[in-house]
Amino acid sequence: MDLQKDKERRMDMYKDLEGKTVVITGGNSGLGRAMAERFGAEKSNVVINYHSNDDNIDEIIEKIENAGGKASSIQGDVGSEEDVKRIIEHAVHTFGSLDVMVNNAGIENEVPSEQLSLDDWNKVINTNLTGQFLGSREAINYMLENDIKGSIINMSSVHQRIPWPHFVHYAASKGGVKLMTETLALEFAPKGIRVNCIAPGAIDTPINAEKFSDPELEKGVLELIPMGYIGKPEEIAACAVWLASKEASYVTGLTLFADGGMTQYPGFQAGKG
Ligand code: BGC
Repeated sequence: MDLQKDKERRMDMYKDLEGKTVVITGGNSGLGRAMAERFGAEKSNVVINYHSNDDNIDEIIEKIENAGGKASSIQGDVGSEEDVKRIIEHAVHTFGSLDVMVNNAGIENEVPSEQLSLDDWNKVINTNLTGQFLGSREAINYMLENDIKGSIINMSSVHQRIPWPHFVHYAASKGGVKLMTETLALEFAPKGIRVNCIAPGAIDTPINAEKFSDPELEKGVLELIPMGYIGKPEEIAACAVWLASKEASYVTGLTLFADGGMTQYPGFQAGKG
């Protein structure tokens, strides 16, 4: 299935996103890239943050501009308070506002928990949880100061709900993202700032490339997906533009699972259980 060639899929569905400024952390690759390109197709102003690899940036910017959007990139580590402030300032300086903050940057590595070093634990928590907090806080401050009824989208995972041996730091970070999202949603609902998160399942992105290139490992993952295929980044980007748009104006504190049914107890499919 090539969703980019799927003529049924409109890529410019949300007129209110035109001219809105959207910051996407980790927007240079995987889900971040798909979201950057989709917001570009909605003619938004897209700020693509990257940590260290700027290889794809020119290509992504060109794609966004060809689709009628605007784009700019900025290096920065989401775990650094100073860098996150700089990223937000860059967005405001370049495009004059900030309407949507997508806290997407994330990392994972597999280590049996009894061997997990404090350094590895801290790295994952710092990027996946503290980074999303800093991005949310800075965006919310700007929105409050400028009376913007904006939207914050955090990236969680099915592992905010499903335990994941050898990835305890990752699962803990995503569990944290869930309650952080819900707490911020409650706190800023009176100001009209919506805070939601997306919880993807197994998606075809570089973070998973090694795993899915091994047929045995891929088969193991497919058994956990009732819909029977690995998700496409565009299917996650479609959730992000909806959550950011006015169509989701009454939605806050939601975890939008986009996982092909992975969280619906696949072990209990007909005939089992
Ligand atoms: C992880 C993937 C994993 C998926 C399902 C995601 O959060 O990033 O590596 O395949 O969860 O387990």
